[in-house]
Amino acid sequence: MLKWKKESNLRYDFDKPVDRRNTNSFKWDIPERHMGCGDVLGMWTADMDFQSPAPMLDVLRKRLDHGVLGYTIRGQKYYGIIQDWLRRRYGWTLEKEAIHFCPPGVIPAVCMLIEVLTKPGDAVFAFMPNYDSLYGAAESMGRRLVTAPLLCKPQGPLRCADWKMDLQAFENAVVEQEIHLALFCSPHNPVGRVWTEEELAAFADVCLRHDVFVISDEVHCDIVREGVRHIPMGSVPGMEERSATLMSPNKSFNVAGLMTASVLIPNREVMAAFRKKLSAWAMTLDTVFGTLAVEELYSDPACEEWLDQVNAYLSANLAYAADYIDNSIPGISTYVPQGTYLLWLDFSQTPLRGGELCEYLVKRCGLDLCDGREFDPSRDDHMRLNCACTRATLEEALRRLKKGMDAL
Ligand SMILES: Cc1ncc(COP(=O)(O)O)c(C=O)c1O
Repeated sequence: MLKWKKESNLRYDFDKPVDRRNTNSFKWDIPERHMGCGDVLGMWTADMDFQSPAPMLDVLRKRLDHGVLGYTIRGQKYYGIIQDWLRRRYGWTLEKEAIHFCPPGVIPAVCMLIEVLTKPGDAVFAFMPNYDSLYGAAESMGRRLVTAPLLCKPQGPLRCADWKMDLQAFENAVVEQEIHLALFCSPHNPVGRVWTEEELAAFADVCLRHDVFVISDEVHCDIVREGVRHIPMGSVPGMEERSATLMSPNKSFNVAGLMTASVLIPNREVMAAFRKKLSAWAMTLDTVFGTLAVEELYSDPACEEWLDQVNAYLSANLAYAADYIDNSIPGISTYVPQGTYLLWLDFSQTPLRGGELCEYLVKRCGLDLCDGREFDPSRDDHMRLNCACTRATLEEALRRLKKGMDAL
């Protein structure tokens, strides 16, 4: 087994290509998305093309060698490891009883919490644009989705910080539509905002005055630019008892296939109801590898070093791509996000819209990006580009994009 020491100054090699085709990869192996074209680069769903930290892979290999993969519980070590992680990275102290795992993932936890906190037909709020499975959970659980916009009024070249919550529209909706549950995305997918202390306090103020409980999807919390600080919703003054914060090493360490989400609910009544819901769905046991992965990823300093280095690599990729697009591809504009590895691209200066835009990108450019309409049905002139790939893949993708736009 490899030994990785923090003092080793080990450089992880994120330039190393890993062919993900034919691994049942959601990002690379869905033929329908490729519209009959062979050579299409997968730049859409939010996972990375990098191998996860080697110490974690060693732990999983060792467990596999044991050879018995029976029913698995989450061990007692898990709670302390999550507590340490939250304290170390976010200065958030949480009691053990406020922590629960949810193997199917963050979105299934959101769905169950919607059931716990509202009745069919109740209004549930989300800002738009937003991650489709998050705002979509309201309607898929039979609730009424009510939205308000994120506003973007740049004073000069567009910057991520130009995106703001329209809190007046939020408060109006809360009052008029009798909203008592909001779905919040932090860091925000797709616009890339990492909300500041002041913004979170102002949002919390509306929630607290009108008795709105918040489900905060923080799956991207560990992927932020240098100097940017993520603040968990549950640690915002007044919100501890009025929110559920959902985190996961899924995005941070590229383990979406391992089912590793954690649900953080200091409110005992809500936690008890959530546990009951898990139990009703017979979701009381864990996955063999998910448990081990969380414990290793959140406790081994070598994995945290990997996270620091992947953040640096992603930040360089995003800066490079944003600069290239703004300076070399007329018609598309973008900016470096404060968090996530996703670029939100504005194609409004091109003649392409919606399905035509998607088809052009796949068939003419060989690029599979996310359609902006998934994040907001009105955004037929936006696409989302996932930059969590090797620099060589990113360079190739940008070359293809430029060639396609030059040909318009
Ligand atoms: C904001 C957000 N929440 C949740 C998820 C999915 O999380 P999970 O796989 O744990 O359900 C994603 C994946 O892209 C995401 O971007």
